[in-house]
Amino acid sequence: MLDEAIAEKLVIEKFSSTPNTFCIAAVGCSVGPNTFITKQNILEAMGRKYESKALASKLPEFQVFFNDHATNAFNTLFTTFPPKKCYFAAGVTGSFHSRLFPKSSLHIVHASYALHWLSKMPEEVQDKDSPTWNKGRIYYTRASGELANAYAAQFSKDMDNFLNFRATEIVVGGMILLVMTVIQDGLHRSQSAGGFLYDELGSSLMDMEHEALISEALINTFILHVYTTTMNEIARLVERNGCFNIERMKLTDPILNVEGPVDVQMCTMHIRAAVEGVLTKHFGSEIIDEIFTHFYQKAAKYPLIESKYKKRNLLFLALKRN
Ligand SMILES: C[S@@+](CC[C@H](N)C(=O)[O-])C[C@H]1O[C@@H](n2cnc3c(N)ncnc32)[C@H](O)[C@@H]1O
Repeated sequence: MLDEAIAEKLVIEKFSSTPNTFCIAAVGCSVGPNTFITKQNILEAMGRKYESKALASKLPEFQVFFNDHATNAFNTLFTTFPPKKCYFAAGVTGSFHSRLFPKSSLHIVHASYALHWLSKMPEEVQDKDSPTWNKGRIYYTRASGELANAYAAQFSKDMDNFLNFRATEIVVGGMILLVMTVIQDGLHRSQSAGGFLYDELGSSLMDMEHEALISEALINTFILHVYTTTMNEIARLVERNGCFNIERMKLTDPILNVEGPVDVQMCTMHIRAAVEGVLTKHFGSEIIDEIFTHFYQKAAKYPLIESKYKKRNLLFLALKRN
């Protein structure tokens, strides 16, 4: 899909007047290997594009910026580069919910499995006197409509800011390529794999409170500030923002094998990779193994985990700067 978007929608002739460097930013890159694989795919797609236009001799040099929070393991990232990378690489720290790059300096921004992180938790969630106070839960899946609306409102603000910042940084004709998990339109949020897993994680933390392993106060002050959008919602937000045109939008299967039974150990690894950082920051590193042992035991008992994981929920979105 990424290949198709570049082949069919990127007009390279538009960039001919700019210096002969093609700049790609991977925002929310983490440490690889996914981020390396996608950069390689983008570069190969670019190579084919130049060849198809008989412009192979004009292939630009590629600069790839790897962005994540300053706390990301950048040393691991930079010491595990594939041996034959054909681009210049640089790290850029900071939040993608802010300006990261100079004006009109990028051609492609790629973000996979990252934009569901909100810039902050919705303020209402922290208000003990409000119906949106999220006592005893770490997520909004089974919460009131008001709380889910507060998450949606924060996501809407964040997306608008993200698109505005990227619109400043990307040249006209440049693209944003997004991969994100979504909830199928029409499904309740509790029917999403992410919602289910985060709920089970919350419930594992509550069990640990009952076992006096974690204090209630610590749980009540922990909220996961991630939000799962839908295809319609994100399309609406992009259209309302107006800086980018939707060129491709496709829902595909989740990363996990849809044929065989779901491997709970694998689910545990996925969720651990996604949230270990924020859990460690809040609860401390000593308790992390215990949290995921509780999570594994809980998730393994749940018969619905299979069907929840098998919903078509991976969205690929290609946007072009107007
Ligand atoms: C699940 S990982 C995805 C990593 C990689 N893109 C991939 O496809 O495997 C999400 C990454 O997004 C990063 N992230 C979340 N919010 C961010 C923000 N506001 N600015 C920069 N990075 C962010 C996290 O630190 C994490 O490394």
